[in-house]
Amino acid sequence: MRAVNALILERMGSPVPLIPKLAKYLVEAGGKRVRPLVTIAAAKMIGYSGDAHLKLAAAVEFIHTATLLHDDVVDESDLRRGKKAANLVWGNAPSVLVGDFLFARAFMLMVDAGSMDALHSLSRASSIIAEGEVRQLAAKGDIAASIGSYMEIIEAKTAALFASAAEVSAIVADRPQADITALDTYGRELGLAFQLVDDALDYGGLSKDLGKNTGDDFREGKITLPVVIALQNGDETEKRFWSRVMTDGEQDDSDFDTAMELLEKHGALKATLAMAEEKAQIAKDALSGFPDNEWKSALEELADFVVSRAS
Ligand code: IPE
Ligand code: IPE
Ligand code: MG
Ligand code: MG
Repeated sequence: MRAVNALILERMGSPVPLIPKLAKYLVEAGGKRVRPLVTIAAAKMIGYSGDAHLKLAAAVEFIHTATLLHDDVVDESDLRRGKKAANLVWGNAPSVLVGDFLFARAFMLMVDAGSMDALHSLSRASSIIAEGEVRQLAAKGDIAASIGSYMEIIEAKTAALFASAAEVSAIVADRPQADITALDTYGRELGLAFQLVDDALDYGGLSKDLGKNTGDDFREGKITLPVVIALQNGDETEKRFWSRVMTDGEQDDSDFDTAMELLEKHGALKATLAMAEEKAQIAKDALSGFPDNEWKSALEELADFVVSRAS
C-alpha cells in the first residue's frame, strides 16, 4: 500500500498548479483505501509475483477519487474525509475538471499495467459507475422505488468498481476463469455490503467518524434502502410524509427526526444492516476455493470490517 500511495502521488503531478493542489487536498485527507487494498490482497492471495497489480490498484483509487470529486458536486455535499469538500473550497468547475484529469490518469496507469483484459474490466466498471450515478439522479425523490431498483443502482455506482478491483488481480496473474469469477463475486458482494452500510450510516452514524455529513441522503431526496423499507411498511399518512420531504423537497427542522422515528418503527436500519451482513457472508464464501493463507484471511476480515463499521 506504501508503493501504491507513492504511485498515486507521482501520477497526479501536473505543471498546471491547481491540479495537484486540488487532488492532493483530497488524497492527503486520507480515505480508507479499501478498493486498492482489495486489489493488492487478492493478488497476494493468489501468489502473483509481478508488479502490474500496483499500477492497477493506483488506477482503482484514481477512479474512486475522480468519482468522489464528481459525486460531491452532484450531491452538493460539503464535507469529505473530514474536510471541507473540494467543491466548496474551489467551486464546482475545478472539481469536475480535476475529476476528469484523475480519470484520464487512471487510464494511463491501466495502459502502463500492460493487460488489455484488465483495461477492459476497469474501463467497463468506469462506464457502469457513471450509469449508476445517472440512474440515481433520475430516481431522485421517486417514492415508488423498489428494493430491486435500489440494488441495481448501488451495484452500478459502487459494487462494479469493487468487483473489478478484485478480479483484475486474477486477470494480470493469468489465472483460470473460475478464479476471476470468484474474485469478481467477492468484490461485488463486498461492494454491495459497503454501500448498504454507508446508506445506513447516513441515518445513524456520527459525522466525525465518517468524515462526511450524515443526513445528506435525506436532504437530497435520495431514496436509499432504509427509506424504501419504511415506505413499503408505512401507512398512507407516512407515505404522504415521505412524498412531501423526498419528492417535493419540502423539509423543516423537525422532519429529519420524524424520518428517524419512522425508520426505527419499521426496523429499517436493522434490516439494511442485516442485508449488508448477508452480502458480506456471500463475499467471504466466494473465497472458499482459494488456499488458506494470511491474505485470504485479510480479505475475509475486510468483509467483517465493512459490516462492523455500523456498530
Ligand atoms: C465513499 O467511499 C463512496 C461510497 C461508495 C460510499 P469510501 O467510504 O470508500 O470513501 P473513502 O475513500 O474512504 O473516503
Ligand atoms: C457513492 O454514493 C458515490 C459513488 C460511488 C460515486 P454516495 O453519494 O452515497 O457516497 P457518499 O455518501 O457521498 O460518500
Ligand atoms: Mg454522495
Ligand atoms: Mg452516502
